[in-house]
Amino acid sequence: MMTSRDAELWDDQAATFDDEPDHGLRDPLVRDAWRSLMISVLPPVPARVADLGCGTGTLSMLLAELGYAVDGIDFSPEMVRRATAKAGSYPSTSFAIGDAGAPALPEGAYDVVLCRHVLWALPERATVLERWVRLLGPDGRLVLVEGSWSTGAGLTTAETVALVEGAGRAADPRRLDDPAYWGGPVGDERYVVIGRRLP
Ligand SMILES: C[S@@+](CC[C@H](N)C(=O)[O-])C[C@H]1O[C@@H](n2cnc3c(N)ncnc32)[C@H](O)[C@@H]1O
Repeated sequence: MMTSRDAELWDDQAATFDDEPDHGLRDPLVRDAWRSLMISVLPPVPARVADLGCGTGTLSMLLAELGYAVDGIDFSPEMVRRATAKAGSYPSTSFAIGDAGAPALPEGAYDVVLCRHVLWALPERATVLERWVRLLGPDGRLVLVEGSWSTGAGLTTAETVALVEGAGRAADPRRLDDPAYWGGPVGDERYVVIGRRLP
């Protein structure tokens, strides 16, 4: 269950959030790395993406520039304000305040449920994943970028794979070791898991 205090903590982070290389994607090499990754794990456009816990919307906007329709949800009003400002009058994007764990989005409407660095922090993750799968159309996929960080926080690849399989999806994990994603070398476990319909 999210609390207003949790959202306030993220509000406080919003002004400096994009200073991290993988958040703001300001370095062209980092931006290119994420662009290439997204192209490799997402279906081709046209496709509709739910970006859950979208933060300042940098990843959402990268996808919008590639031609995806994106609906972003975040419980931090300040994050959503910044994402909305980035989108400007960009077509086919929307950002709303809400709980990523129980997103108020239409079921069966999405080709992709994307979540980067949020699932690990949510309670009742198995239930959350069931909700996310219900947002997907018949050929839709989960794209979960997570990590098990040197701070001790996060989810291991095996834990995320087990969650995705528990939600009835085939899990395809890929390591994200390339320093280009992070603006420098990293020593901990970073990865994306793609969760597709079982064959
Ligand atoms: C580490 S940031 C990641 C932001 C974005 N996904 C990215 O990769 O740039 C975590 C984000 O998740 C949001 N968040 C955390 N728990 C949430 C929840 N229960 N519902 C909605 N947003 C949440 C925070 O406000 C914050 O913007």
